[in-house]
Amino acid sequence: MVERGASEPFKLKSAEADHLVEHRHDDDIVTMPLEGLHPAPHLRDMEHYQQMYKRSIAEPEQFWDDIARTGFYWKQKWDAVRSVNFSRKQGRIESSWFIGSKTNICFNALDRWVETGIEDHVAFLFEPNDLSDDKSRREWTYGQTLAEVKRVANVLKAMGVKKGDCVTLYMPMVVELPVCMLACARIGAVHSVVFGGFSAEALAGRILDAESKVVITCDGVMRGKKPILLKQIADKACEIAQKRGFAVASQLVLHRLEEDKSTCEMRGGRDVWYDEAVARADTECEVEWMDAEDPLFILYTSGSTGSPKGVLHTTAGYMVYTATTFKYSFDYQPRDVFFCTADCGWITGHSYVTYGPLLNAATQVVFEGVPTYPDAGRLWDIVQRYRVNQIYTAPTAIRALKAYGDSYVQAYDRSSLRVLGTVGEPINPEAWRWYFEVVGSSKCAVVDTWWQTETGGHMIVSFGVKGMKFKPGSASLPSFGVDPVLLDEQGQEIEGPGDGFLMIRQGWPSTIRTVRGDHERMEQVYFDRFDGYYLTGDGCRRDADGYYWLTGRIDDILNVSGHRIGTAEVESALVLHELVNEAAVVGFGHDIKGEGIYAFVTLNQGAKASESLQKELIALCRSEIGPIATPDRIQWVPGLPKTRSGKIMRRILRKIAEQGGSVKMEDLGDITTLADPSVVAQLIASV
Ligand code: WTA
Repeated sequence: MVERGASEPFKLKSAEADHLVEHRHDDDIVTMPLEGLHPAPHLRDMEHYQQMYKRSIAEPEQFWDDIARTGFYWKQKWDAVRSVNFSRKQGRIESSWFIGSKTNICFNALDRWVETGIEDHVAFLFEPNDLSDDKSRREWTYGQTLAEVKRVANVLKAMGVKKGDCVTLYMPMVVELPVCMLACARIGAVHSVVFGGFSAEALAGRILDAESKVVITCDGVMRGKKPILLKQIADKACEIAQKRGFAVASQLVLHRLEEDKSTCEMRGGRDVWYDEAVARADTECEVEWMDAEDPLFILYTSGSTGSPKGVLHTTAGYMVYTATTFKYSFDYQPRDVFFCTADCGWITGHSYVTYGPLLNAATQVVFEGVPTYPDAGRLWDIVQRYRVNQIYTAPTAIRALKAYGDSYVQAYDRSSLRVLGTVGEPINPEAWRWYFEVVGSSKCAVVDTWWQTETGGHMIVSFGVKGMKFKPGSASLPSFGVDPVLLDEQGQEIEGPGDGFLMIRQGWPSTIRTVRGDHERMEQVYFDRFDGYYLTGDGCRRDADGYYWLTGRIDDILNVSGHRIGTAEVESALVLHELVNEAAVVGFGHDIKGEGIYAFVTLNQGAKASESLQKELIALCRSEIGPIATPDRIQWVPGLPKTRSGKIMRRILRKIAEQGGSVKMEDLGDITTLADPSVVAQLIASV
């Protein structure tokens, strides 16, 4: 990224990002309601949590050895539990777990259960987009799921996919998506799932980076009333890749739309229908036994600079950690029905749709549609229909549904619910209250889970345990094996209550292993600023009870409706326009999305701002990244506030984005280091 995306080194910005830290009072406490507890919970009470947690930090090797030994199938046991180095001064950053072991995550998720005779147990309950689509609504048992996975695995093998090859999945939220992920894992292929909302350009970038010869997609999907023609986008992505010298050899295409197959253009020699290929495929497929540190998947996620990076997770540590956090965070019990609303295009769908639940022999709902279709009661209809015990969603969805009023919730029976999970961004106390009181009738645990693509699984959790004191808005307490530390700007550890950079001191099993093709970048981003710790990129406050309160990103990553978007990515899209000179993007508080996208744009000499230019810029962001990157506001400005070394002073832009033209010069702090301080008055005047 060149100068336009560069900003000053990150600082703790909690004081200026007001929208992220308001309403943080810890005097507002709710004790875990006893009615919401399972009679035999995995964690008996807070003492039990404390005891397990302390052991996980004091004796991590014994702690994880016990869990791994008893809860999984290993073709070969490990020689050592772990080898972790978080200090660049000591050498290469490394994290290896269950070293020397061999296993397969697909075997642990499916075969293991089928072999113990529970093949008729339901793995997936598929809920289609259309409420009246009874034809598509169906149950998948563990036996059926395994049979389908084996066939898909054979199809992939026939396409030439081998251990270590990367397969890109660009699919809707249907059961075949986790099935394809598991099929890859079965044969040792590395999956890269790309969220169906990303554009052809974004998909092409990911196919190219992963050098993915095989793509799995779908003709299209209805999301609410809107058709999304995934195959057309995938075709375009293949074309873009081709122009850059890379040929996708095969596309496996799922048929999901009502329309006849003939309406979908298939390219001979490259495109194959999923149903036809799977029907012809052999029903037996041996498992590929994987080394503990063999790659399982890459998932692209936004960083502070440059294009999204492929976060790589490996086999054994990821398996053990996602299974364990699923069990304890949600207190998942046999025969419970779990429902995560996230798409498998994000880490939440990887860890808490595909892997965590199946590794616990869970039954879960896979929902194709959106929470507001046909109306705002849809999620509660699903809860009632399947007697859901744990629901896991995002604050942005909760806020959006809250706005429709309580009657949509109250129309359905939600008495089966015990756990209300949340993830993706800090939950504001108003949304928390509504989730707890209206959705959960004041009897369920609100389990807030702070974690990241890079952490693989839950890190800080408000466990729904007897004696737990919930503080709305606080992600609360560290999960097993997680050792959070707050550092000040100088890198000094803050003891007791305080506000600082959230760092993790010791490795946990599903730590990010590398960034695909760029280990150096991974070391720089996460381990350079403060030696010896993993840098989360979040600011955080610890209160007197040791509870953690996330205060938002400290870098240039936005969190829009719980989705990560790098300001640099949006800026790069904007400056592609021939009339644009420079662009700087910041976040601002948004009632539903959490953060909205605010773009400051300077035009080339002679170019005129207009409504049509604004539309063109929005279209560029959508085609380069996807609809989630649509700027909410664009402000035309004569210049950007830059320091003498050319770095954009983003705190000024954030203040203006937040407060508009009413910003006062004296609230902007020290602006004397700006190359041209007079820019600021012009910026305010041009709001
Ligand atoms: C934010 C999503 C506060 C945070 C699992 C983090 C949260 C980023 C929470 C990771 C939460 C996620 N409370 N903030 N419960 N969950 N975040 O990689 O800023 O898509 O760094 O992973 O989302 O986003 P990612």
